[in-house]
Amino acid sequence: MYRMGEEEVQAVRKVIESGQLFRYWSEESEAAQFEREWAAKIGTRDAILMTSGTAALICGLVGLGVGPGDEVIIPSYTFIATALAPLAAGAIPIIADIDESLTIDPRDLEAKITPRTRAIIPVHMNGLPCAMDEVMAIAHAHKLSVLEDACQADGGSYGGKRLGSIGDAGAFSFNYFKIISCGEGGALVTNDAQVHERALIQHDGGCGFFRDLSELQTPLFAGWNFRGNEILASILRVQVQRLDDILGALRAEKRLLREELADETAFAFNPVNDHEGDCATALGLLFESESGARAFLHAVNSEGTVANTPRDSGRHIFANWEAILEQRGAHHPDLNPYRAVAESFSYPADMCPNTLTILGRTVAIPTSIKRSREETLSLAARVKQAAANCVAVA
Ligand SMILES: Cc1ncc(COP(=O)(O)O)c(C=O)c1O
Repeated sequence: MYRMGEEEVQAVRKVIESGQLFRYWSEESEAAQFEREWAAKIGTRDAILMTSGTAALICGLVGLGVGPGDEVIIPSYTFIATALAPLAAGAIPIIADIDESLTIDPRDLEAKITPRTRAIIPVHMNGLPCAMDEVMAIAHAHKLSVLEDACQADGGSYGGKRLGSIGDAGAFSFNYFKIISCGEGGALVTNDAQVHERALIQHDGGCGFFRDLSELQTPLFAGWNFRGNEILASILRVQVQRLDDILGALRAEKRLLREELADETAFAFNPVNDHEGDCATALGLLFESESGARAFLHAVNSEGTVANTPRDSGRHIFANWEAILEQRGAHHPDLNPYRAVAESFSYPADMCPNTLTILGRTVAIPTSIKRSREETLSLAARVKQAAANCVAVA
């Protein structure tokens, strides 16, 4: 969350004073309006407000028809929720390496395809767009569905198209740590009517969206409850209006930092697949070795933390997904998707040889919408000084 204030307070006050917190009791609910506004912002036909990004990923996979016996390829660097979603749909996550852009490596993605592969979840990690031309070309060649995980990339774009609108469906998170937020929340977008209907049914097991029920082409099936509510929607409607300004401010700071640091030789910048569309939530510095990155981190953070390494990002790294790696895919053995393939399936120890090295060599400097130009220049000076100190010590 970057910005929240009086407008959100007023929006919530209005909902509470109306006494109408359930989305389906009003024609023009906040939720329905948010869904229209989010679909328009992202450029898709439909959007569904949900309780979380995880819910949106699960409903997206269900919408695409993913289920038992299927494999879904995901990257090695993403929040564990991306790996949990295929399991919730009955499928198995297959983990592909990343490249120096910190997003899925298209070559390893293609190498991980088997006859069981059904879908790909490219993740726009840290707001960094994946190489979507390559991902979509691979998906088309192998007839695979694509569910974009744009949970960390609200409002970003690739090739002029908003992230989430390029694949068959896109999932967003609005939890506290995301670019726009309502505390906890999510949304699924798609242009595909069938994906939309199946996701609608999955996200509301009681099918409370009764106004639309007669129009459904899809027979009802048992789903869950991931419905959003009027308070979340009212906050998000204000947040959507703030989104492009937030992205503009983040991008301006990242641009200035890049300009100031362009001549540094201690590190390179992590490559970015689309600079214009990058959400610019952090500037990635790529060192030659993890020890070099650690030495720099120590120096630059000596008077207060301004940088981190994604190598320390816990459950965002496949090596820390013990439930997945040990194939405990559900709370009950009979629901565990790994059980069906236990004889023929295991995760090779060397399945993602580059991930830990690339993450260890990377230092991320989170951008801010609050720093003044002078403060950004002073941050750049601090980075230069830390880099110089490290070179002097080496
Ligand atoms: C890349 C990614 N995917 C999925 C999720 C899940 O989103 P949520 O926390 O809203 O369920 C997150 C949230 O942290 C995320 O960062």
